[in-house]
Amino acid sequence: MSLVCFPFKEEDVTVVVRNIECAASHPRVAAILCVGYSQGETWHAIENAKARIERATGKEIFLVLQRRIGVTLRGGKGDGMNTALSFFLEKDFPRIHFYDADIVSFSGEWISKAEKQADLDYDVVRHYFPRSSTDAMITWLVTKLGFAMLWPNSTLPFIEQPLGGELLLTRRAAEVLYGDQRVRSQSDWGIDTLYTFVSAQAGLRLAEVYIPEGKVHALYGGLRDLRTMLVECFSAVQSLKKETLPSEDAGGHCIEPARPVPDLIKQKVGYDIEKTLKLIKSNWTPRQQELLHQHFDSALVKGLLNAVEWPCWSFADEDAWTSAYLKFLDHFEKGDDDWEELLFKVWVARVLNHTFKNVMRGYDVALGALRDLVWDTRHQFSLQLKTNPITKHAIVSGH
Ligand code: DGY
Repeated sequence: MSLVCFPFKEEDVTVVVRNIECAASHPRVAAILCVGYSQGETWHAIENAKARIERATGKEIFLVLQRRIGVTLRGGKGDGMNTALSFFLEKDFPRIHFYDADIVSFSGEWISKAEKQADLDYDVVRHYFPRSSTDAMITWLVTKLGFAMLWPNSTLPFIEQPLGGELLLTRRAAEVLYGDQRVRSQSDWGIDTLYTFVSAQAGLRLAEVYIPEGKVHALYGGLRDLRTMLVECFSAVQSLKKETLPSEDAGGHCIEPARPVPDLIKQKVGYDIEKTLKLIKSNWTPRQQELLHQHFDSALVKGLLNAVEWPCWSFADEDAWTSAYLKFLDHFEKGDDDWEELLFKVWVARVLNHTFKNVMRGYDVALGALRDLVWDTRHQFSLQLKTNPITKHAIVSGH
């Protein structure tokens, strides 16, 4: 019997309470753990509904505040998930599930699907969803692409949604993760990257289950809303760049095949394009221009500086992004405003390029282009490793 955790901030309280009720009614669930970022309206709504749901389902609901577990990074999602892991490890449930609290389409089927795979002795089960062709731009362009460059012979680039917050961990997986100092310090948005990477490095067996109806939750305004997440997810990959995986093979990873994507998701635009167009031209400083000239290819420099005058993005194609990514891996400094803004601007230009070059040609073309980018990058870096007996860091440094 499992523990189900819902980390939450301020959410639509009707959705949260309904999801708790739904999970508590599931026959494989023994108890619910709600981990709050703060004691606001959502916290009080859960507190008020708790006794009623406990009576109706006979399951206990624990409501706890997230603890400060990391020390150096911003306290955010990572502290919330790690608080849940530490709580879980003190009890004797065999498995823990995580679900974002704000998912409108959540159902008991999500729990059943994960439980069925864990019954086959997978240590980690991740849910994956069809997503809009303009959504998941950090997943594709930062996490999957970074994995393809740094560990091309591993299964990491092909984990469908490595940043997904919906997953099941067995006690063994939770012990591996919580026992790892790198995981406990990753208190921010980088936590998903760390859970994914450390699970692979420890050789944990991974199954991915498909949720065909998708994850219906609030989407974003302009890409500015994703800036902190971008910086923290990139920095998490960067912090791992010298790590190796013991056996770089794809054993122990099984993926439930996807199904046709619902029209509603195919037609959805993931971010506000008009708001985003202004982003590359604003917030420039002389130092950003200096860093740009000092480290990046001249075509990228020229393109980005032209974009100050007028929105343009054609310079930010796949190759330009991959080569800029390597420079960022080497030189990016988290906490330095100019570096963070430069990373953000180049990524915004890349997302706009993808939107106007690929998304305009339809959903399937757009998703095909993203998959090809990861597949081709993986091939290029794998070949490079094979033909040059050099270390991974030398690839990253371009030496
Ligand atoms: C991602 O890239 O997966 C983030 O959730 C933003 O969409």
